Amino acid sequence: MPYKGPKIVTIDGPAGAGKSTVAKRLAKELKLSYLDTGAMYRALTLKAIRQGADLGSEEALVALARSTVIDLQNHGAGVKVLLDGKDVSEDIRTIEVTNKTFHVASAPRVRAIMVEWQRAIGKKDGAVIEGRDVGTVVFPEASYKFYLDADLQERSRRRICELREKGNDVDAQRLTAELKARDTKDLTRSVGPLKKADDAVFIDSTHLSIDEVVGEMIKHINAHG
Ligand code: DC
Repeated sequence: MPYKGPKIVTIDGPAGAGKSTVAKRLAKELKLSYLDTGAMYRALTLKAIRQGADLGSEEALVALARSTVIDLQNHGAGVKVLLDGKDVSEDIRTIEVTNKTFHVASAPRVRAIMVEWQRAIGKKDGAVIEGRDVGTVVFPEASYKFYLDADLQERSRRRICELREKGNDVDAQRLTAELKARDTKDLTRSVGPLKKADDAVFIDSTHLSIDEVVGEMIKHINAHG
């Protein structure tokens, strides 16, 4: 059945493919809000760490999710992530949170809660939504779907640059190994794995600039509008 709701654009793909930068730019061009679903998984992970919750217990994580309010606010070019009313935009990007988020992301009942939240936000006014399962599970009926990928070495190089720019001391080899491990976890989890939707447009950003990727997306949207 054709989708009749607000405009939804989904961008899925592995870490470091450029989804966030591209999605924010595309949202601005299309005058839509931007929804970073990964930030939700990260925020809940941060709360679990802070509260000393058992990250291996789905029961504990479900209870935590049910008593948590995560609000993502668009602010010009950036996004503010509020966890129970407090700004955690920076705190959710630490290496510890990054490496522990798979617990929350692989718990099926927690994913179900996240998906519900994401649908509610997207359905309100439409959005450009990025994640791993957005075009397959969250909005299979989306107006436009993209799958953004890049070589592991290039994704790793981008992450290293980002972290070094923020003043972090980065072990390149270790970061590449961690990225590869995250890819495996994302690709192999039983619920909501990273997967290209059959009807998503595949874009390899390895040799493309942000402008070129956004340009390709807009060209596709205009051609199929
Ligand atoms: O996009 P990101 O790196 O900020 O995502 C953080 C983690 O959340 C990542 O390990 C995968 C997971 N994630 C997910 O399972 N499903 C999504 N829709 C988005 C992110």
